[in-house]
Amino acid sequence: MRMAAPLPVVRTVADLRAALARARAAERGIGLVPTMGALHEDHLSLVRAAKARCGFAVATLFVNPRQFGPNEDFERYPRDEAGDGALLAGAGCDLLFAPEREAMYPPGFATSVNVADVSAQLEGEMRPHFFGGVATVVAKLLLQAGADAAFFGEKDYQQLLVIKRMARDLDIATEIVGCPTVREHDGLAMSSRNAYLSADERRVAARLNMVLHETIKAVRDGDSIAHAESDAARHLLAAGFSSVDYITLRDAATLAPIADLSQPARILAAAWLGKTRLIDNMAV
Ligand code: PAJ
Repeated sequence: MRMAAPLPVVRTVADLRAALARARAAERGIGLVPTMGALHEDHLSLVRAAKARCGFAVATLFVNPRQFGPNEDFERYPRDEAGDGALLAGAGCDLLFAPEREAMYPPGFATSVNVADVSAQLEGEMRPHFFGGVATVVAKLLLQAGADAAFFGEKDYQQLLVIKRMARDLDIATEIVGCPTVREHDGLAMSSRNAYLSADERRVAARLNMVLHETIKAVRDGDSIAHAESDAARHLLAAGFSSVDYITLRDAATLAPIADLSQPARILAAAWLGKTRLIDNMAV
């Protein structure tokens, strides 16, 4: 196996900007891939997209405390910077920005970015702190890097919509690019949180994506959206999920509830397997 060269790491905004200025001077476009680490094939696909599209790929690694609620998994979120660096280098990444908490949130940090409307429902309803934390840190990363494009997964579809709206509203010039969800062989969307699943839970987890497919088919075959949604939640519980936060068809652009499929729609779900919360979504 060919070993990739070690990945250069910067930890301050000044060093990030200096490294990106050198890349620009070498006439390379810059593609930004924000992550919280614990990297898998899903994140690496974003790096490859950034590299192919822009020429120079910079990944960021920062477990952002502001997007975790008080009872969420901030403390136990998996952290492995050395392992992540090796994977990133193998995927062709050119630079890693891994700031300390104080570099992102210095003492006296007082600003937050909140995107109303598209943040309000679904994940925003279940996790009220979440999109404010995401929008604030992603606005900072976009302004720090000044990249040509930034790459985000459709796996977190509502997050992608929130970030697109934030960048548009704040006139941030970086293009926000959505990339397809990367899945395991049985359809489970890859996620750093899949590491929490027991072997039994892992088997049940694959049902989430299957139920999304079945629900779309039921609606296409004439079932009402409301009925198909309640059937879907029942199927998840019967399969072994411990609870269902939502499984719902929405307008693909606004996430507003819909009564039929006359406009582009998206099915989105969040459900719990024991202590692990899984999300998934698909175009309808
Ligand atoms: P994280 O969960 O580490 O995800 C980093 C990026 O990988 C996000 O854009 C996410 O949508 C994407 N991703 C995760 N699983 C994926 C999959 N199975 N297929 C394709 N893409 C996938 O999302 C975050 O971090 C944070 O909220 C962040 C945007 C970095 C802000 O802190």
